[in-house]
Amino acid sequence: MPLIGHPKLVDFAYNDWKPWENDIVVSSYPKTGTTWLRDVCRHIIYEHDSLEFEFTKALAGPHVYLELGSEVKYDLWEKLPWKRRVLGTHMSAEMMNLKRLRNSGVKIIYVMRNPKDQMVSMFNMSKNLPFPRKRKQNMFVKKGEGYLDHILSWYAHRNDDNVLLVQYEDMKQNPAPEILKVAKFLGVDMSDEQADKIAALTSFEATKARMQNLALLKDFFNKGTVGKWKDHFTVALSERVDQQVEEKLAGTDIKFKYTL
Ligand code: A3P
Repeated sequence: MPLIGHPKLVDFAYNDWKPWENDIVVSSYPKTGTTWLRDVCRHIIYEHDSLEFEFTKALAGPHVYLELGSEVKYDLWEKLPWKRRVLGTHMSAEMMNLKRLRNSGVKIIYVMRNPKDQMVSMFNMSKNLPFPRKRKQNMFVKKGEGYLDHILSWYAHRNDDNVLLVQYEDMKQNPAPEILKVAKFLGVDMSDEQADKIAALTSFEATKARMQNLALLKDFFNKGTVGKWKDHFTVALSERVDQQVEEKLAGTDIKFKYTL
């Protein structure tokens, strides 16, 4: 089973978290656009001069993730004087009690990104880890396989009323229609002009300028582009990933965009 995080930790966290009926959970495999989608959601649901908006601007960090838990954190979440919360998780669908979430009214946005850029993004963020380079490369190829299982676990829920699948590359190519789609899913009316405005406010450049001092990890924001893998992948590695994708996602209609 594809696991992110320790199952015991997840159980513990999961039991202590009390979903609110209008909670939003951005779910993803790491480095696929989690932070971006959370930022888009908070721009959609909060007034831009509100306390919630200000308070949630430090987007990147363990405090937002369901599975990185402590009783103190869940207690605090419970007491937040907000109308709505935007949370995150890297858990696969199999690890979550989705029936409980659906019954509670929680909405889940699953974001995915092409696996080659995901691998490069992960590699860049982790390059300061104390592992030899070769081992890191192997580790990321393996992670790639885990990522596809993660996608499949969520793809199985693509028709659930409370689950929306979004692709990083679609957001990048033409953000406003994707933002409108997310707003509609969250039950928020939005004009085309508002969507354009949010697209500009949450663009990579705007986000990096606003957030880089808040991000906990160096290199959290790298380039935010599609196709960076081409600078890093050998032909053999690229073909290997293509083959994994073909095998794993054969029964789905998922099409990754590797360039724009
Ligand atoms: P790169 O490493 O390719 O730059 P996550 O939030 O899931 O960890 O994903 C991080 C990736 O999303 C990083 O990719 C980061 O730069 C990118 N990202 C973050 N905010 C973004 C935005 N507003 N627009 C586009 N990409 C963004």
